[in-house]
Order: sequence, then structure tokens, then C-alpha cells
Amino acid sequence: MPFENVLIETHDGVATLTINRPKSLNALNTATVAELCLAVEQVADDRSVKALILTGAGDKAFVAGADIAEMAHMASPAALTFSELGHRLGDLLESLPIPTIAAVNGFALGGGCELAMACDLIYASEKARFGQPEVNLSVIPGFGGTSRLARRVGPHRARELIFTGDLIDAAHAERYGLVLAVLPPEQLLPHCREVAKKIAGKGPLAVSQAKKVLAAGADLPLQAANALERQAFATLFGSRDQKEGMAAFLEKRPPRFEGH
Ligand code: HXC
Repeated sequence: MPFENVLIETHDGVATLTINRPKSLNALNTATVAELCLAVEQVADDRSVKALILTGAGDKAFVAGADIAEMAHMASPAALTFSELGHRLGDLLESLPIPTIAAVNGFALGGGCELAMACDLIYASEKARFGQPEVNLSVIPGFGGTSRLARRVGPHRARELIFTGDLIDAAHAERYGLVLAVLPPEQLLPHCREVAKKIAGKGPLAVSQAKKVLAAGADLPLQAANALERQAFATLFGSRDQKEGMAAFLEKRPPRFEGH
């Protein structure tokens, strides 16, 4: 299904969603967030897709935030609905059984930073800038930023970024652990595709279980997290892919995983 503000392409088991409103720096209005939800659901239904990349159109922005022109006239009920929609998008990305990669090609501000943080892995171009500048508008992050930024960079740094609204460059974001690597702009997408393709070649059931256990375990006491881990570990031994992966190792040949 074609979308107005989101481009979707799939190659070699890797889907790429591009937020495509470059004139407003890919700002997220309601229509775009709704389309992103549908696009993520479409990816979830396509069993040939093994990894998802999210990026922004143009060379300036990943996403410069939620659409301020649209939000300017919202009253509280509409703001709540908008925030719920953004939370739904984050939940959809986190519950996808495949890894998601944010390729941050420029500004990732407000809802843009929040969208990147709902992805499993974040890579940035040298031109990227991150921030939660909502206090400049006398609002706060509303697409999961208060919780996800604190989990990503720690509560102390999250407080500083959210209270000051300061932007940080890609190198700073890398020091904070928000970004895995900083690349020259032209190498960002090729690098993300390489990572995605590497993941796409692994046992998909294992990758999916790893994603699930990492996410669920993060908020649990160690004993409870370990209980989830051993259940998932044991479950994988009921799959054909586990037999195939171990047989292939012992027979010194590449494995052929089928996702069963
Ligand atoms: C709507 C936006 C926008 C946004 C940029 N534009 N960001 N439109 N919403 N978030 C538009 C501008 O109005 C302008 O349109 C065009 O994009 C180019 O932007 P400029 O400002 O001219 O570019 P530049 O001078 O290079 O500055 C880039 C910038 C700045 C630093 C990124 O645009 C900026 O500060 N944007 C807002 C960032 C922000 O506050 N984000 C958080 C939003 S709140 P025209 O028509 O004039 O060319 C949020 C809450 C999330 O995200 C939770 C919601 C529930």
C-alpha cells in the first residue's frame, strides 16, 4: 500500500522506511505517525523481512520533532490522543519480532529522538543532532522520551537534556551511549544495511527471542530476567533451526535457517 509521507522498500530481507516530509524536516504530524504504524504492521506481516531500517528523507533531518504547526492548536484531549498514537508506534516497533535500526541522518529532535530510541540500534551520520527541546515550547517529551532517554543514557543525563532542551552532536551522543557509531553521511545507510543483512543471515527465531528477552529482562530483577532467558533458551531447542544451526557447525557448512 503506498503512503503519502512514508516510503517503504524491501531488498534482501531488509525493509527500509523513510519518513518523507523533507520540507518540514520530516516533522511527525498525526497522518505520518499513523502511516508509520501501518507501515510497521505491514513489515510485521511480511515473513521475508528479517530487519527494519528507519531513516529520514533529505540530507538535513531524520525527524525534527512532532509537527509544531499541528500541535500549536491542540487542546489537552487532542494532545493526549496524539501522545497515545506516538506511544503506540513505539510499542509496535519494540514488539516487532525483528531488529529495528535507526539511521539518523540529521536532526533527531523531540519526537524524532524518541522515534530513534524506540529502535533497537541507533547509528548516526556526522551531521546528526539529538535533543529533547520540548521545554522551549513549554511542553515535555510525549512519545516516550522521558522513559526511554533515561533508560538509554541514565537518569542524570536525561534530566539535563530534558530540562535544558540542549542539542548534542553525534560524537556527544556516541559518548553517551545513545549512538553505536558515527559515520560519514554517505556511509550511514550502507553501514546500516550491512548490519541489517548480517542479522538477516542469523537464525531468525533466535534473534527474535533475544530481542524479546533483552527488552523484558531490562525492567526485571536479575533472577526473574534469568528465568525468562532460560525459558526462551529452552524453547529454541524445540525448533528445526536449532538442529540445523548446530548440525551445520558440526558438518562445517553454512546453516540454512527457515524460521521454524
Ligand atoms: C513543524 C518544522 C519542525 C517541527 C522544522 N520545521 N521543525 N515544522 N514541526 N518540529 C519546519 C520549519 O518550520 C521550516 O518550515 C522548515 O521545517 C525548515 O526549518 P528551519 O527552522 O527553517 O531550519 P533551520 O533554521 O535549519 O533549523 C532547524 C531546526 C529547527 C533547528 C531543526 O527547525 C527547529 O528547532 N525545529 C523544531 C525542533 C523542535 O522543537 N522539535 C520538538 C518538537 S515537540 P518553513 O515552512 O518555514 O520553511 C515534539 C514533541 C513530541 O517533538 C511528542 C508529541 C506528543
